[in-house]
Amino acid sequence: MTTGLESRTGAPARAQAQRGGARAQAGAVVVRELALAYDSPSRADAGVQALADVSLSARGGQLLAVVGPSGCGKTTLLELLCGLRAPQSGSITAPAAVLMPQRDLLLPWLDALDNAALALRIAGCARAHARERAAELFLELGLQGFERSRPHELSGGMRQRVAFVRTLLSGKALLCLDEPFGALDALTRADMQRWLERALAREPRTVVLVTHDVEEAIVLADRVAVLSPRPGRVVAQLEVELERPRSPGDPAVIALRGRALHALAQGAAA
Ligand SMILES: Nc1ncnc2c1ncn2[C@@H]1O[C@H](COP(=O)(O)OP(=O)(O)OP(=O)(O)O)[C@@H](O)[C@H]1O
Ligand SMILES: [Mg+2]
Repeated sequence: MTTGLESRTGAPARAQAQRGGARAQAGAVVVRELALAYDSPSRADAGVQALADVSLSARGGQLLAVVGPSGCGKTTLLELLCGLRAPQSGSITAPAAVLMPQRDLLLPWLDALDNAALALRIAGCARAHARERAAELFLELGLQGFERSRPHELSGGMRQRVAFVRTLLSGKALLCLDEPFGALDALTRADMQRWLERALAREPRTVVLVTHDVEEAIVLADRVAVLSPRPGRVVAQLEVELERPRSPGDPAVIALRGRALHALAQGAAA
């Protein structure tokens, strides 16, 4: 099925988004010359150009990390990939996608397990079965014992992990993760990174991972796109062809981290 987002939203005719079509079947993501400006009535000027001329791609099953300074349009890019916004111009080819938002958006009236099982429930899965599947992942992510806790009874890091389980259980071919490990302490973060790698090895998906942490990007990604300050443009795309699991102390990881930081600095100076 191919869905032109512009037909739903009235975006300019040049903007295109293809979802689940033949070209997207292998899970590939291809973004070409993407631009998006927000109307901003609260600002004196015409609005905010969030993204300008963004082109990037990932093959099916690859993990593409996106790094860039705050406000450069990373969340906007993920929302475009998931079809939650229509591009102003440019094109997106992507399979059906799910977004793990920067804020966890758990429902306060559901317990942790029901929150995690939500995507399965919406897909028509019986509650008991959905909770069973979520419970397996709770065990792996160190959330066991908190299945019946409400979101306000969980720490920030725990809430993030519940949201992460919910994202994985959606079964979508493309996972768009917006700072998924941002609220975690360094040790839990490293554990989650290893766990994500194992989960993807077991059940490959295409992943677009937004992170502020350049080291995390190099440790996890097949490819890293570095964005400039707003309006976000791709200033570098680095291929990370290193064996997994990778260690932050590995000289090859340190060298690539240096290249990504250099690209970030150059983008900021341009
Ligand atoms: N709904 C909106 N309406 C108007 N402007 C917006 C909206 N969402 C984002 N923006 C603006 O677009 C720009 C990009 O925002 P975005 O949230 O995509 O950045 P980001 O790279 O994800 O930042 P951060 O790293 O801080 O999360 C910012 O200048 C922001 O003010
Ligand atoms: Mg953001």
